[in-house]
Amino acid sequence: MSLIEVTSDVAAAPQGAPAAFQYLDCLGDGGGGLVAFPTETVYGLGADAGNAEALARLYKVKGRPAAHPVIVHVASAEEAWLWADAVPEFAHKLAERFWPGPLTLVLKRAAKVLDTVTGGADTVGLRVPGHPVAQELLQAFGAGIAAPSANRFGRLSPTSADHVRADLGMGIDAVIESGTCDVGLESTIVDCSGEAPVILRPGRITAADIEAVAGMPLAEDDSTVRAPGTLPAHYAPRAKLKMMRRTEIIEAVATNKGKRLAALLLEIPVPRLSSSNTLVVPAVAVTYARSLYANLRVLDATGADTILVETPPDSPSWAAVLDRLGRAAHT
Ligand code: TXA
Ligand code: MG
Repeated sequence: MSLIEVTSDVAAAPQGAPAAFQYLDCLGDGGGGLVAFPTETVYGLGADAGNAEALARLYKVKGRPAAHPVIVHVASAEEAWLWADAVPEFAHKLAERFWPGPLTLVLKRAAKVLDTVTGGADTVGLRVPGHPVAQELLQAFGAGIAAPSANRFGRLSPTSADHVRADLGMGIDAVIESGTCDVGLESTIVDCSGEAPVILRPGRITAADIEAVAGMPLAEDDSTVRAPGTLPAHYAPRAKLKMMRRTEIIEAVATNKGKRLAALLLEIPVPRLSSSNTLVVPAVAVTYARSLYANLRVLDATGADTILVETPPDSPSWAAVLDRLGRAAHT
């Protein structure tokens, strides 16, 4: 599979030039560029993880506070270990089972890792994405690419190139376009810098998966190790978001007096607000997650001032969805 053409106006590929070279020029060798690329979770905004100037620009474009670390993406586990200082046995097991894939491991950092990457922490977040386009880019680049989700700080992560353009527009150098992301929510983050794994951010790979493969129980997140970017209010649409039971949503719609409401409901249809501002999605966690951010963007675009989201089931497979909705609802 080859890299798809650049679609940003800012960096149109010269006629006949192989696309991969364009990105490499842009990212590396002092290019210091910002290239958005697809991963299986969400689109990332990539910068050379060894270039402090490019990282400074990355933070600026995202509007992200400097103390929030970014994940370094590499093509393989062998490359990942070059960024870490000590890698415990259980981290090796997790990498072997889940990389390439939607998992980020937080490890003690190697001396070479820039403070701009870690936000000054003594750990570094590492991920080997499985998306073929991300893999091709990383293999061609041959070094680490720092990539937060390609959205403005605090907003919904992008699951398509259109979302990236809508959020970051001309502020970046290129977007590698490759359809929609399969997982739809950000990677599971596991802190492996202590005695036992700690889940800092739930994702497609569940707590049970991590325990089974690590071969030990998870340690509790004691909040001193919590990922600095996982703030209570995050991943939010423009409109206010409220999580409610279905009966409460029906009540809210029935008694509504002139509020612009939109709703995200689970499978069984209920009285609609109108077909344009209600989405009904299957109550299957993986499917729901895949389209969650795109659905919230659609509901935002209706001009609603409040999005009523039917509370999904409180079971382990829904943990990542509940985490993101909880943050989006936090005011
Ligand atoms: O799926 C994903 O992980 C996507 C794709 C692009 O790979 N990336 C992503 O990056 O979600 P971002 O920057 O939006 O979120 C990264 C999270 C932040 O909450 C950050 O605090 C945490 O990872 N993180 C990164 N390095 C860390 C470290 N050394 N210690 C603790 N948390 C870390
Ligand atoms: Mg993000």
